[in-house]
Order: sequence, then C-alpha cells, then structure tokens
Amino acid sequence: MAICCQSPFKPINVSFNPNPNSTSRKSLLICNFSHSKSQSVPLVCEPEPVLTSARAFAPATVANLGPGFDFLGCAVDGLGDFVSVTVDPTIHPGQLSISDISGPFSSSKKLSKNPLYNCAGIAAIAAMKLLGIRSVGLSLSLEKGLPLGSGLGSSAASAAAAAAAVNAIFGGPLSSLDLVYAGLESESKVSGYHADNIAPAIMGGFVLIRSYEPLDLMKLDFPADKNLFFVLVSPEFEAPTKKMRAALPAEIGMPHHVWNCSQAGALVAAVLRGDVEGLGRAMSSDKVVEPRRAPLIPGMEAVKRVAVEAGAFGCTISGAGPTAVAVTDSEEKGREIGETMVEAFWKEGDLKSLAVVKRLDRVGARVVSSIPR
Ligand code: HSE
Repeated sequence: MAICCQSPFKPINVSFNPNPNSTSRKSLLICNFSHSKSQSVPLVCEPEPVLTSARAFAPATVANLGPGFDFLGCAVDGLGDFVSVTVDPTIHPGQLSISDISGPFSSSKKLSKNPLYNCAGIAAIAAMKLLGIRSVGLSLSLEKGLPLGSGLGSSAASAAAAAAAVNAIFGGPLSSLDLVYAGLESESKVSGYHADNIAPAIMGGFVLIRSYEPLDLMKLDFPADKNLFFVLVSPEFEAPTKKMRAALPAEIGMPHHVWNCSQAGALVAAVLRGDVEGLGRAMSSDKVVEPRRAPLIPGMEAVKRVAVEAGAFGCTISGAGPTAVAVTDSEEKGREIGETMVEAFWKEGDLKSLAVVKRLDRVGARVVSSIPR
C-alpha cells in the first residue's frame, strides 16, 4: 500500500530554535506539526534525491534510566533495526510504500505493511513531509532486529532508522532535531508522546529532554575513557507501553518530587563525570514510576535485588519494561550479573529470559550503505 505524504500539499516553513545549547543545528524545517509553537517563516523548495537507495541502522535505547521518566534516555550498542529506503518510480510521486518486513522479530502480527500503522512508515512519511517531497515515490523495507514491547525502544529504532534513511536519500538537509520530530510522530501514535527513546536512537549517547514545547534536547557526553556496560535482561513477557503508562499515578506528593528530582540531577552529574557507580545508584532510586510498574512484571523486584547483590551499581526497568537494565564497569562482571538476573526471572517470575551485555552507542541513527544516483 502506498500512502501520500502530503494531501493536500501544504508549504514548508522554517523556524529558528533560540536555545544555543540545545542541539547542534539550529535550523528546523516544520510542516504542519501541531506541537511546534516556534515562529516560522515560509521557505524551501523540494530537494532532489542524491541517492537511489540508503540503508540506515538505529540502536536500541534505554528510556527513563530510573528517575528520568520521559526525559532521560541512552542508546546501546549492537542491537537495533535496519531500514532501507529506495527511490521507486513505480510508486506514485510523494508517496511511500512498505515493500518488505524481515529480520528475527518480523513475524509479529503487530507489524503492518500499511505505512500509516507502522513506526518506520509513519516516521518516513513525517520526514518526507518535513522535506516537502511531492515529486518522488519511495519504497521502504524494514529489518526488525528488536522485539516489540520489550522496553528496548523497538518502535523508536524503526522510526529513527526510517527517518535517517529518507533524509539521506535527499542529501541530509534535516537536522537531528527534525529527525526526532519525525520519530515523535510515530512514537505518539504507537505508545505515547515521549522522546526518551527516539532522541537517543537518533542522536546516540545519553540525551536529556529539557522541554517538549518547544522540543529542546541536550546531549550529555559520557567520558570516552570510562568503562560502562549495560546488562539487559529481557524476559519472555510483553509489557505494552500504553498499558504500563496507564499504571502510573496522575499526581505525586512533594517528598517524592524532591527525591526523584535530586536523583535525576545526580544521574546527570554522574553521566558527565563518567561516574558509573553514581550513575547506577541514581538509576536504582526511582520512587515514582518503578514502584508502580515493577509488580506488573513477574520477578522484577527479585531481579533488581540479585543484580545489586551480584555487584551491579544499580538496576531498574528499561523504559516501560519488561527488560531489566543493570550497570557495571566490566564486561565479565556484567555477564555474571546477567546470569543471576536470568535465574531470578525464572525462579521468582516463572519467566525465561535472555541476558546481553552492551556498551553505550555514541553515534545513534546512521547510514550504513547507499547507492548514489
Ligand atoms: N518514558 C517511556 C515510558 C518510555 O516509560 O513510558 C517507554 O519506552
């Protein structure tokens, strides 16, 4: 099925982000995004494709990191989704079609080939809108490397790779912030309006979402010479983000507000200092979200306990779960910690699970191969 990205065509605008520290590029192409309140002026003609085809990868992400619900996240290395986008003369100009879905997690019934119901499709169409594409048709193929509903930012990885691939086809005029907006279109449709997966999936590393209106992102540089390993343990259990968000309190009391804010501040300081122990401690400290969600994931409380007993600096739920994430400073220790966590999921939650030990992905969504025109 091919879907038109602009019907009727509306002009593209450009706006200027006034915050000098927020993102690397200041220009922001905007096309009918209701969430943007920035001032805008008319601009831009449709870019020509510079590539016939582009294949992009976007990494898995850990959102929340404990006390950073909806405003902190990071990307992890070596896990993620691939998306290929090709200029396709058989597709009606201005439209996008999903030609293929493959990969180890492609069999889920939730993966639609209708671009309007597929994260990669929604983000690709949003990127086409931002670019004002109306003369070129595109086809997209998705290689699903991440399981759905796992807490590893599966939907964001598809969206990020798709937006990056579309952007590459047209020479890369969109900024990281634009690509995050495109990915947010998809996130808001499938799981809720939160950028703590899509921002690190696009930008890599640790990202702080300072504000949503307007979107203001701060990349937090973790020192290159420090060792940081994430132990990710994914049980065979699905925790849909929408359901896990519905479990959260509508309001919190002042003591919890003060506690969680101080822990989130400590977490940011620990990231910037490369203090893995401090990062783990802060990550373990959430008193607002984790206590509501952990009981919904069989064995999670025990998994957290044994991870810390086995030497992890901290442990929490990755995103909305059910994956548990612990941090440590050695790969070998990470493997040992992972084994105890797998055991606890089995003994206390009756769930099989798989542990992997991964580093920080500092790059985010990137083009891995392309065919020039
Ligand atoms: N911040 C989001 C949540 C992330 O916890 O609901 C979902 O991956």
